[in-house]
Amino acid sequence: MHNAIPVIAIDGPSASGKGTIAQLVADVLGFAYLDSGALYRVVAFAAQQKNIDWNDAEAVAEYAKTLNIQFKNGQVYLNATDISDEIRTEAMGKGASQVAVHAPLRAALVELQHSFCQSPGLVADGRDMGTVIFPEASLKIFLTASTEVRAKRRYQQLIGNNQSANYESILSDLQERDARDKNRASAPLIMAKDAILLETDQLTISEAVNVVLQNYQHKMYE
Ligand code: DC
Repeated sequence: MHNAIPVIAIDGPSASGKGTIAQLVADVLGFAYLDSGALYRVVAFAAQQKNIDWNDAEAVAEYAKTLNIQFKNGQVYLNATDISDEIRTEAMGKGASQVAVHAPLRAALVELQHSFCQSPGLVADGRDMGTVIFPEASLKIFLTASTEVRAKRRYQQLIGNNQSANYESILSDLQERDARDKNRASAPLIMAKDAILLETDQLTISEAVNVVLQNYQHKMYE
């Protein structure tokens, strides 16, 4: 199904820089970009608005099927309302990680994710892009960094956005989310067998982007 259209799958833990790097790679190649984490964030946000318990797998999945989620110019819309800022909070990151454990919800979001795969290509970031959603991806990258570096980056990002931030609590939240994302039964965060490991502790954003682009060129001419 996806063989004809090139897909670059970038998976990894929270705050590894996936989103920024994936978007830049997509810009350079003129590809579409799928921020799959945003979908889980939107579902967590919408469920909370509707007083649906994040632990209620069936209710969350059924409600998710009724939502109209759209991406336009880097903004995220829920039923035509821009909720980009609302879903970027730490609370919604945590909520997304909680709703994402439910297999019925993950199943409900598959088709929407596949619909992003359009010519001339797609860069998709998340936890299960290379393992479950786009197993035939042309290139799979597993992007990671130490927990401390990720916590520091997230701290600086929040401060930069004039939000309050506490390093210790960011670090413990990241550890909690990593554990939940890795240990869940449904589509856990694991490196695909054919993925390339990219450790970004010592890399700048543009260096990481270049490594992804070089690997993509290499794959294309293999
Ligand atoms: O990438 P992010 O921080 O926006 O993702 C938020 C949460 O959503 C993450 O902790 C786990 C979940 N998620 C997922 O289960 N599968 C994906 N493909 C993307 C995100």
